[in-house]
Amino acid sequence: MANVTVLGAGGWGIALAVLLNNNGHNVTIWSALEKEIDMLKNEKENKVCLPGIIIPDSIKIEADLKEAVTDKDVIVLAVASKFTRQTAGRLNGLLKDGQIIVNVAKGIEESTLMTLTEVIEDEVKNVNVCVLSGPSHAEEVGKGLPTTCVVGAKTKDLALYLQNIFMSNVFRVYTSSDILGIELGGALKNVIALAAGMADGLNYGDNTKAALITRGISEISRLGLAMGAKEATLFGLSGIGDLIVTCASMHSRNRRAGILMGQGKTMDEAVNEVHMVVEGIYSAKAAKALSEKYNVSMPIITAVNQILFENKNVKDAVNELMQRDKAIEHSQVDWD
Ligand SMILES: NC(=O)c1ccc[n+]([C@@H]2O[C@H](COP(=O)([O-])OP(=O)(O)OC[C@H]3O[C@@H](n4cnc5c(N)ncnc54)[C@H](O)[C@@H]3O)[C@@H](O)[C@H]2O)c1
Repeated sequence: MANVTVLGAGGWGIALAVLLNNNGHNVTIWSALEKEIDMLKNEKENKVCLPGIIIPDSIKIEADLKEAVTDKDVIVLAVASKFTRQTAGRLNGLLKDGQIIVNVAKGIEESTLMTLTEVIEDEVKNVNVCVLSGPSHAEEVGKGLPTTCVVGAKTKDLALYLQNIFMSNVFRVYTSSDILGIELGGALKNVIALAAGMADGLNYGDNTKAALITRGISEISRLGLAMGAKEATLFGLSGIGDLIVTCASMHSRNRRAGILMGQGKTMDEAVNEVHMVVEGIYSAKAAKALSEKYNVSMPIITAVNQILFENKNVKDAVNELMQRDKAIEHSQVDWD
């Protein structure tokens, strides 16, 4: 049994807290938002982000960050990615050396192009930062539906320790040494999910969706490989796995925002209607900057950026993608 604190009480933070509690750990949930803490204490439920999932009394709800993180075996960082740096910065001076922190948020910091584990390491020194990711909608994990994820850590011992902490008979956890690959897959799939949603909003069909998923993972893997990630990771649970679930599911806020844009709404109108942080919008800019930095062609991600930030019409962007220069499917299947 471990002492675990989950920082961030959105859908994913709560689903993981309930999972960890069911696994027999001592669990605390913390949120920076007073309103959220009040709701969790009074209603025992986050009615906005994860309605219907009741927080058991055995989970402690804590508003004081120092109290929440002192003497914990594992800290799970589950705030929305745009608050990862700020939240990690608040941990300075509160943690023991070697503290295990598991990042479960998905994103790339726009201003620095850092992954979120790099952001955390930049803010808090002498900690062990790991990652947990995969095709795992909170709504389904909260209900105990069978789900698989992968945990990435710098040492095998640490990965095995975390595998034991998170794994249950409905939540299967694999281990990996490729933290970078896991994080890139999780962040970049949100941008492709926006495109998949736009295609749905335009009433395009399953062929279009399959094309976006397949060519999307090609783009993600080209960039990932250029950055040093492993191909197997990009074609694993946290890469293609997460891309499939995000492009197919109505639980995905990125896809839902994309649908609204495909139906003619502006980015701002779509974000307002979804009522949640649409992380793909932030990751889109970062992905484009990374593609330029590593000189990797990413046509779908470029098109999403043009739609989001240059007022490009969605249909025109699709037409241009379809009419790009003829190409071989993959450099590995050339005749040379
Ligand atoms: N929801 C899912 O199914 C799911 C699954 C896997 C991973 N994730 C990732 O987990 C992260 C959290 O997602 P989510 O769906 O729980 O909710 P979210 O992205 O909507 O995050 C909301 C939470 O962030 C925290 N937050 C908001 N403003 C803050 C601030 N100013 N300072 C500190 N914390 C603040 C609050 O606790 C809030 O509940 C995201 O990066 C997401 O991509 C989500």
